[in-house]
Amino acid sequence: MVRPALLKDLPPPPEGLFGRAGPLVVEVGFGDGRFTALYAKLHPERLVLGAEVSSGSVVRALRRFRREGVENVRIYHGEGSFALRNLVPPRSVLEVIVNFPDPWPKKRHQENRLLQRGFFRKLSTRLVEGGRLLLTTDHEEYFRFALEEALSTGLYRVETPPPPPLHLTTKYAEKWKGEGRPFFHAVFTKEAEDHAPWPPLRRYPMAHALLEGPLPEHLPLSKTVLPLEGGVAVLLKALKDEEGFYVLAHVEEEDLTQDLLLEVRRSAHGVYAGVSRFGHPLITEGVKGAVRGLVERLKALGLRVVQDHT
Ligand SMILES: C[S@@+](CC[C@H](N)C(=O)[O-])C[C@H]1O[C@@H](n2cnc3c(N)ncnc32)[C@H](O)[C@@H]1O
Repeated sequence: MVRPALLKDLPPPPEGLFGRAGPLVVEVGFGDGRFTALYAKLHPERLVLGAEVSSGSVVRALRRFRREGVENVRIYHGEGSFALRNLVPPRSVLEVIVNFPDPWPKKRHQENRLLQRGFFRKLSTRLVEGGRLLLTTDHEEYFRFALEEALSTGLYRVETPPPPPLHLTTKYAEKWKGEGRPFFHAVFTKEAEDHAPWPPLRRYPMAHALLEGPLPEHLPLSKTVLPLEGGVAVLLKALKDEEGFYVLAHVEEEDLTQDLLLEVRRSAHGVYAGVSRFGHPLITEGVKGAVRGLVERLKALGLRVVQDHT
C-alpha cells in the first residue's frame, strides 16, 4: 500500500510511486479491483493509481494484483479526491476512471456525490490537456446530474457513447447485468482549466501541546463540535486508561475525512495532549484544530499550556 508519506507542498512525480514514467491514470473506487487488473494488463505502459476507501476492498484488490502479477498499479487507501489533490502533480493525469460510483440517491445526501461541479473544476487542474474522466453507471439520475454539473463548469466537452465492454466487467456491472439494468457512460474531456489552483492539503509533522497541572480525573467531552475553515472536527468521547485518556475524534475537511485518536497523558515534561500515532493519521490543519479544541477543554479544567505545537 502506498502511503502519502511526503510532507512537501508539491505532490511527488508519478515516477516516485511507480519507478518509471508513463501515462498516468487514476481510478476512483476500484472495489475488488477486477476491472483495474484487466485495464492495467491491457495498457502495460500506463501507470494506474487506484483510490479506494474500503479497507476490505483494498485487501481483496491487493491480493488480486499480486496473484495476477500486475506491476503497474499502486493503491491509495482513502478518498479519490484526496489522492488527486495530494498525490498527483498538476496537469499530469491522462484519464480518471469512475465505475459505478455510490449514487447517493436521496436529495439530502447528494452533497456526498463525487461527481459534482466543485470536483470537476478541481479535477481540471490535474488533467493533462485533452485528459478525460470516464464515468460508467447504472444510475440514470446520477448520470444526468454528473453531465449537468460538468457542463455547468464550462471546462469540459461531454460525450455519451455506449459503455466500453471492459467497463462492464466490474463486480457491480456483473451484478446489475444479472438484474437487466441499463448502463450509462460518459466521457468528460478537459477543454479548459479552472483558474483557481488546487494546492495539496498541507500536512504537518506534529500537533501537540504540553500542559502543566494535574491530569483530570474525568474528561467530559460529550461530542464537542469544533467548526473549522471548510470543515468540522468532533471530539466524540474520552476513554480512560492508567496513563490518561484516549479521545476519539472525527475530522472532516475538504477532500479528506479522518477518524483518529488523540491522547492526553502524563509525560516526563508535563501533560501531553496531541495526536496518537495509532492508525497513522495525516496531520492536517483540521487535525491541528481538533488538538486545539482538546487543549481548550484542558485549559477550562485548570491546566496551563507550557509548549504549544498545535
Ligand atoms: C458501488 S461500488 C463500485 C466498485 C467498483 N468500481 C465496481 O464497479 O465494482 C463504489 C466503490 O467506491 C468506493 N468509494 C466510495 N466513495 C469513494 C471515494 N470518495 N474515494 C474512493 N473510493 C470511494 C466504495 O468503497 C466502493 O468500493
